[in-house]
Amino acid sequence: MNNIFDKNLHVAIIMDGNGRWANTRALARLKGHAKGADRVRHIVRSSLDFGVTHLTLFAFSTENWKRSESEVAGLMSLFKQYIKSESKKLLSNGVKVLFIGDRSRLDSKLITLMNELEVLTKNNVSLTLTIALNYGGRDEIIRATKLIASKVKLGELIEDEITPEVFSFYLDTSILPDPDLIIRTSGEYRTSNFLPWQSVYSEYAFVKVTWPDFDTLMYKNILEEFKARDRRFGLVK
Ligand code: IPE
Ligand code: IPE
Ligand code: MG
Repeated sequence: MNNIFDKNLHVAIIMDGNGRWANTRALARLKGHAKGADRVRHIVRSSLDFGVTHLTLFAFSTENWKRSESEVAGLMSLFKQYIKSESKKLLSNGVKVLFIGDRSRLDSKLITLMNELEVLTKNNVSLTLTIALNYGGRDEIIRATKLIASKVKLGELIEDEITPEVFSFYLDTSILPDPDLIIRTSGEYRTSNFLPWQSVYSEYAFVKVTWPDFDTLMYKNILEEFKARDRRFGLVK
């Protein structure tokens, strides 16, 4: 399946089920996360092959800090490893990498690696890979609202100018189109604070398989099924 879509296609994925994948194999949760990172490499490759223009991956939520200290630390070190090991390949494959979420709570080494990867890949155009790290939709909306409030206070923006388009401009996703399709693995039917503003007209696909078992064929099947959907956006067609 090569470039089956003739225009922008933004796929966003809630990569869930790493812990359960590990549990059922009597492995530590972190082994599941490592296997999950491996899946990311494959799905990025497949996205390029399938003509997906934007891929957004939910890697760590604002609520995930509630997990054990060792799991959080393990995840943070996996993010660093991923950036270090993938940078060159992402650059040569034409992938532009962006990060969304609140960076202020992340450790400085990780922030540096994130900034460097964004700068390194900024001119790439084949695929925009956005990684949501310490991302929460409500947190994003509150941060945008605070920015807007300060602009209004300074007289740089007037209340009547605040439209959905203007509001979107203050979100972390300002330069991204809204997601067309949101996939969640692991059989949970919820969005867990992922892109609430941007997803109002997104299509959803919930799949039972855990993220480390999500493969290219499953991805392809979901994209094919999505292609056949009738998106009406409130219109009568
Ligand atoms: C998703 O897998 C990865 C992150 C949230 C960081 P989980 O770690 O949530 O796996 P389950 O849901 O416990 O199986
Ligand atoms: C959502 O998964 C966050 C990520 C995939 C990073 P969670 O496992 O944190 O979601 P809940 O807690 O089951 O809703
Ligand atoms: Mg989970």
